[in-house]
Amino acid sequence: MKKTDSIYIAGHKGLVGSSVLKVLKKNEFNNLITVDRKRLDLRNSKKVQEFFKNKKIDYMVMAAAKAGGIIANSTNQKDFFLENIEIQNSLLNLALKKKIKRTIYLGTSCIYPKFAKTPIQEDSLLTGKLEKTNQCYAIAKIAGIKFSETLYEDHKLDIIGLMPTNVYGLNDNFDKVNGHVIPAMITKFVEAKKKQLKQIKLLGTGKPIREFIHSDDLAEAIVKCLNTPNYKIRNKFKSKFPLINVGTGEFISILNLSKLVAKYVNFKGKILFNKNFPDGTFKKNLNSSKIYNLGWRPKIKLKDGLKEVINLRLN
Ligand SMILES: NC(=O)c1ccc[n+]([C@@H]2O[C@H](COP(=O)([O-])OP(=O)(O)OC[C@H]3O[C@@H](n4cnc5c(N)ncnc54)[C@H](OP(=O)(O)O)[C@@H]3O)[C@@H](O)[C@H]2O)c1
Repeated sequence: MKKTDSIYIAGHKGLVGSSVLKVLKKNEFNNLITVDRKRLDLRNSKKVQEFFKNKKIDYMVMAAAKAGGIIANSTNQKDFFLENIEIQNSLLNLALKKKIKRTIYLGTSCIYPKFAKTPIQEDSLLTGKLEKTNQCYAIAKIAGIKFSETLYEDHKLDIIGLMPTNVYGLNDNFDKVNGHVIPAMITKFVEAKKKQLKQIKLLGTGKPIREFIHSDDLAEAIVKCLNTPNYKIRNKFKSKFPLINVGTGEFISILNLSKLVAKYVNFKGKILFNKNFPDGTFKKNLNSSKIYNLGWRPKIKLKDGLKEVINLRLN
C-alpha cells in the first residue's frame, strides 16, 4: 500500500470512521476520500455507483452503518435491518464494480450466538440462536459477511471482515436513550452530578459482562489490516474469507463499569439498577488471537480511555 493510494472512508463522521480518518492522517495517508451523508445517501446503490463513476478508489473502509445501543436496537429493528443491508450492499457492489484493492467490512460481536462459548471464536458464527434485542441488526451484519465471503472466495475481491467488540471513544453518540452503554452511562452520570442527584438508575441488572475497545485502537487495527499484504492474509486464512475478531481482552461487568464512571465523574450518590429491563447477552468477550497474530495490539486501557472521554464531557 502506498501513501498516495486513494482511500474512501464511508461514515467518516461517526465514532469509528472519524478515528480511522485521524489514524490514516497520522500515518501520512493523504489521499483520503470522504463524502457527507447529505451529499450521498449510501442506502441508494444507484446513486453511489453514479457518484464514484469517474473517481479512483484504491481502498475502502466501511464505517457507515446504523448503529446504536440496546434501546435503539430493540425498538427499531426494522430500520436497523433495512438501513444496514442497503448501505453494505451499495458499498460492496461499489467494491466489486470498481475492483477496489481491499475493502474493510465492519461487523460486530452481536453476530455471534447468544450462548456462544466465551471468549468467542470466529467459527462460532451461525452455530446457535441470536440475542433477541438486536437480532435484526445482527442478521443484517451476517448478510454482509456472507456477501463479502462469496465476493472474496468466488470473485477474488479482496475484503477483510473485522468484528469489533463494543466500541467507545470521543466522537460517540452520547444520547441517554439511543447511545451505546458507555456514552449513555457517562451522560447519565454527568447529568446526575450537575443536578446533584442523590441516586442514579441504570438499566438492567448490572451483571452482564462486556469487553470494550477505544475507537482509536480499533482504527489502528483497521489500518494494520489495510496495510497487510494480500499473500499474508491468503496464507494465514488458507484462501478462506478472513473473518477477524477485534477485542482487547479487557472485560468488566456493567456494575463495575458504572462504579468506574461514577468515580471519574465524582458522583457520590447511590447507583440503582432497573432489573425489569433486559440485559442482552450475559457475557460477550472475544477471542482476538487472529488479529494479534497479524501484529496488532490494543494500546488504550479502559480506565485511561474512560477518563479521557469523561473529562471531555465534563468540560
Ligand atoms: N459503536 C460500537 O460499539 C460498534 C461495535 C461493533 C461494531 N461497530 C460497527 O462499526 C461501524 C461504525 O460504527 P460507529 O459506532 O462508528 O457508528 P456511528 O458513530 O453511528 O457512525 C456511522 C456513520 O455512518 C454514517 N451513515 C449512516 N447512515 C448513512 C447513510 N444512509 N448514508 C451515508 N452515511 C451514513 C453516519 O453519518 P452521519 O454522521 O451523517 O450520521 C456516520 O458517519 C458499524 O459498522 C458498526 O456496526 C460499532
